Amino acid sequence: MILMKDIVRDGHPALRKKTSNMTFPLSAADQQLAADLLEYVINSQDDEMVEMYKIRPGIGIAAPQVNEDKRMFAIYLIDEEDKEVSFVAVNPKIISHSVEKTYISSGEGCLSVDEVIEGYVPRYTRITATGFHPDGTAFKMRLKGLTAIAFQHELDHLNGVMFYDHINKVNPFADIPDAVPYDRV
Ligand code: NI
Repeated sequence: MILMKDIVRDGHPALRKKTSNMTFPLSAADQQLAADLLEYVINSQDDEMVEMYKIRPGIGIAAPQVNEDKRMFAIYLIDEEDKEVSFVAVNPKIISHSVEKTYISSGEGCLSVDEVIEGYVPRYTRITATGFHPDGTAFKMRLKGLTAIAFQHELDHLNGVMFYDHINKVNPFADIPDAVPYDRV
């Protein structure tokens, strides 16, 4: 089970490394890692689990955040249509995206960043993504809204990119061309 002590924080080299592709079939250890990542995000949205294990809520977590050089992340959230979104992506890719961008008005957060970093993080509003489930089957998904934002945030982790890298350094709240704030989507 992943706990806060297992999550590496900002400044750790694992967060700045580009991960390399995984090969199938995944090892038993890698399948366990996939299950553990998903378990963390699910537990972290359960008040009793948060209380019991002192974990921070999150909607996504990537393998480098637990110091694993693996191209894998997990997402768990309830989307705009009240649908449960729950998956692990292995070797994920964005194959196409909207011109329109979006950003969360209140900014993004990250389990590896303990402080609040304010500012708009531009993301594509809609993406088409491909990748593999941990069992080796391929997926292709069209994502929008919060799921698309989370996917981009987690994919960044696999490339050594942090959310705040995208924030305008001069004016963190500068207008983003072609963007519609997520909160109004
Ligand atoms: Ni993060």
